[in-house]
Amino acid sequence: MTQDALKDAVAAAAIDEIRRRLDRDTVIGVGTGSTANLFIDRLAALRNDFQGAVASSQATAERLQGHGIEVFELNHVGTVPFYIDGADEINPRLEMIKGGGAALTREKIVAACAERFICIADASKHVTTLGGFPLPVEVIPMARSYVARELVKLGADPVYREGVVTDNGNQILDCYGFLIDDPVAMEARLNAIVGVVTNGLFAARGADVLLLGTEGGVERLEK
Ligand code: A5P
Repeated sequence: MTQDALKDAVAAAAIDEIRRRLDRDTVIGVGTGSTANLFIDRLAALRNDFQGAVASSQATAERLQGHGIEVFELNHVGTVPFYIDGADEINPRLEMIKGGGAALTREKIVAACAERFICIADASKHVTTLGGFPLPVEVIPMARSYVARELVKLGADPVYREGVVTDNGNQILDCYGFLIDDPVAMEARLNAIVGVVTNGLFAARGADVLLLGTEGGVERLEK
């Protein structure tokens, strides 16, 4: 099976996971990226069964609206029962690296307001130890060089993602070579650097459910 077919299989599994729990008042949280896009495309068939969605990026908002799904401001919704999103890496404790698509800050905010985080990923994303994928860090532009120097002190090799401006008007440093033994501690340590907006470790608030696309079918892991 191709990687795209595995992504589509987990998108379908996520629809099955939430379908019975939707009602006309439900507003769900929706992530960003190629796997989330496949989920959005499948969600379109259910658009009359729920109220709408909170989007984790401008791109996701546009895709939802393109399917006739209403997009709500998170501040007007409060909490969402589910947040469905992909990951760049996920470990057996359902801690993740996210932000390959530069949407990490809004993703983390919507995830924080979700009762359940359902991660959808193909098997290539499942790792024993996080850090093989370069860890994205969103920074206030004027702090970029300072934050990069602090990241070097922590053992990373940060690379400026040139030409990328986040939905929040900020920049991204991708951290290569990080050994992430303790994702919760590392997430907090990086958040403490002045000028960091968000880092791509989703560990303090990881996923609750992982739907993992494998050659043998979709595996479901729950925390
Ligand atoms: C977006 O910023 C990311 O967090 C994505 O959720 C992550 O990169 C997974 O993307 P794919 O589904 O495209 O692999």
